[in-house]
Amino acid sequence: MKLTLKSCTLRNLKVEDAESLAFHANNPEIAKFLRAGFPSPYRLEDAITFINNTKQTKHLNLGIEVDQEICGVIGLIYHHTKIKEAELGFWLGETQWGKGIITEAVRGIVDYGFNKLDLNRIYSSCFIDNYGSIRVHEKIGFKFNGIEKDVCTNAHRTESRHYEMLRSDYLI
Ligand SMILES: CC(C)(COP(=O)(O)OP(=O)(O)OC[C@H]1O[C@@H](n2cnc3c(N)ncnc32)[C@H](O)[C@@H]1OP(=O)(O)O)[C@@H](O)C(=O)NCCC(=O)NCCS
Repeated sequence: MKLTLKSCTLRNLKVEDAESLAFHANNPEIAKFLRAGFPSPYRLEDAITFINNTKQTKHLNLGIEVDQEICGVIGLIYHHTKIKEAELGFWLGETQWGKGIITEAVRGIVDYGFNKLDLNRIYSSCFIDNYGSIRVHEKIGFKFNGIEKDVCTNAHRTESRHYEMLRSDYLI
């Protein structure tokens, strides 16, 4: 699976990507905005485990490749197999922030989700102080769905903003 976009390529991860994946993921500025469970510190073996898991799961987890190097991950996670909907997740290495890469990557995977995977709904959430992610959701056109209280991060408990996009809204 490979999606070639202007600023990046979204593609399946290979074990050779583990080093660059771990390099970019090993950053508390990334971990603090991801749910508890994202390793921090993020070691090479965490990257290898993650990459191997992507090969054995129904979820779609793609590496974000920029300049021939994997520097982030974007995914569609299926929590309910019988319902055609998925949860969006993403992170990008700090060296690549501010270049519009994630905005383009999210547009690309949303398009793929509705047009190729035939999803009916894509939903997503971010912590209330994750202003970059909030802006990405707004730019793509996700609908704000409300706030969930008492969500567990790696470091503390906080609140999340929930978003969704329906197929019927996207394909008009
Ligand atoms: C959130 C994240 C993916 C954004 O990456 P990015 O490279 O800054 O994204 P883009 O360059 O596509 O920018 C998207 C928009 O967000 C804005 N933005 C980015 N960081 C921001 C911040 N801290 N505060 C306010 N706006 C911000 C940008 O200015 C841009 O808006 P604009 O086009 O109107 O100027 C990145 O910071 C990241 O990986 N963070 C850690 C992990 C994470 O939060 N993942 C998402 C979990 S829900």
